Amino acid sequence: MNLPLEPFRIKTVEPIHLVDRQTREKLIREAGFNVFRIPAESIFIDLLTDSGTSAMSDYQWAGIMMGDESYAGSRNFYHLQETVKQIMGFEFLLPTHQGRAAENILFSTVLKKGDVVPNNIHFDTTRANVEYIGATALDCVIDEGLHPEVEHPFKGNMDAEKLNAAIRKYGAEQIPLVSVTLTNNSGGGQPVSMENIRQISRICREHSIPFFFDAARFAENAYFIKLREKEFQNTPVKEIVREMFSYADGCWVSAKKDGLVNIGGFIALKDEALFQKLQNLLILREGFPTYGGLAGRDLEALARGLQDVLQEEYLHYRIEHTAYLGNLLIDAGIPIVKPIGGHAVYIDVKKFLPNIPQSMFPGQALTVALYREGGIRGVEIGSLMFAAKDPQTGEWHYPELELVRLAIPRRVYTVSHLTYVAEILSAIAKNRNQLKGLRLVYEPPFLRHFTAILKEVEL
Ligand code: F0G
Repeated sequence: MNLPLEPFRIKTVEPIHLVDRQTREKLIREAGFNVFRIPAESIFIDLLTDSGTSAMSDYQWAGIMMGDESYAGSRNFYHLQETVKQIMGFEFLLPTHQGRAAENILFSTVLKKGDVVPNNIHFDTTRANVEYIGATALDCVIDEGLHPEVEHPFKGNMDAEKLNAAIRKYGAEQIPLVSVTLTNNSGGGQPVSMENIRQISRICREHSIPFFFDAARFAENAYFIKLREKEFQNTPVKEIVREMFSYADGCWVSAKKDGLVNIGGFIALKDEALFQKLQNLLILREGFPTYGGLAGRDLEALARGLQDVLQEEYLHYRIEHTAYLGNLLIDAGIPIVKPIGGHAVYIDVKKFLPNIPQSMFPGQALTVALYREGGIRGVEIGSLMFAAKDPQTGEWHYPELELVRLAIPRRVYTVSHLTYVAEILSAIAKNRNQLKGLRLVYEPPFLRHFTAILKEVEL
């Protein structure tokens, strides 16, 4: 039997509904062909994101009742601090309300205009937070990571040569930190190997550049290391996690992923001087250092979520569950990024819809079809999210990858739900030549995919 067996049973249920086709048609038009603008109650299977959409365990819900809502010195903060120290080895903790607040506080403190931040691939909020300061977000993923059809066990790895070239070009003084995203979300949820982490940290140390992880999906990354890196096949995941973080100076985490909570984030660090500086900004932007933008109960749910996520039975199921959907799509001849990532299946839209040019947002066109046909919400990670106009020439640059991500919330959807998604995609594949392109009607100055309004156009 190849079914991913859930290591939990269901104690609370949340009804979901498939609204009729006519209503879906009306809603997608009213939303300006942007699935971010559709009310979630009219979505049947929501694969927009795995962020903040996890189901919490009874252990976490019990922790919610143990919230200590003191303004200063909440016991839940100490529990979280102790848990992060135990799991990641970092002494200093700054809780934030979510990942991008952590990025903002860290980058506003350490970056200045003209600096450069190498990463494997920056996630969109990370890139936006770097660029907002006037610094450059430089993607240095290995070439394999840019080619959806190329199989590589660790396609999230950073290319050491690209990093060295950046250090030669800009000089270490212009690179206040190097970051590696675990797993590499914008490149297909692909993991980074321990060997690569060691290598990148060595380069950073040689040049005295602080090395950070964007560690939203650190547990999934660690499980892939166990599965795919021979040296670690018998190592407990907790030890793998400890070793991963031992090579870094710090990390920022959107806890809405592997923290298994609906809201939360943090920065964790080794350096006390940097911690002090960040703390001042934390107080200004998020709140007192022992709650930092979260309620005491949220801190407790997070401390417990970080323990839950490292259970190997859970991680085994999690990776298999995602692979289950990916394999159904492969069997149906739908091109996806390979190997299948940890938190999502990514459809390779350049291959799936070759007749729609990137200037007409083919990825977005597929998200529209998913909603129309099945009430399913996925997200475009392609030309709508990343295409940029050259300020000098006015020419558009389109991203190498044009993907639609089907992100899988943790412990939420069953095997039947995923089977339904694969069936809808197979139906779309049969009529793919009828899909229309899109044109922008409204776009904000940055992070435009969230609020853009589009119009369908004939090819
Ligand atoms: N870094 C990574 C790798 C992420 O995937 C995200 C969020 C963030 C930072 C920002 O964290 O949302 O808590 O502010 N990713 C979500 C997603 C939104 O859908 O992949 P946040």
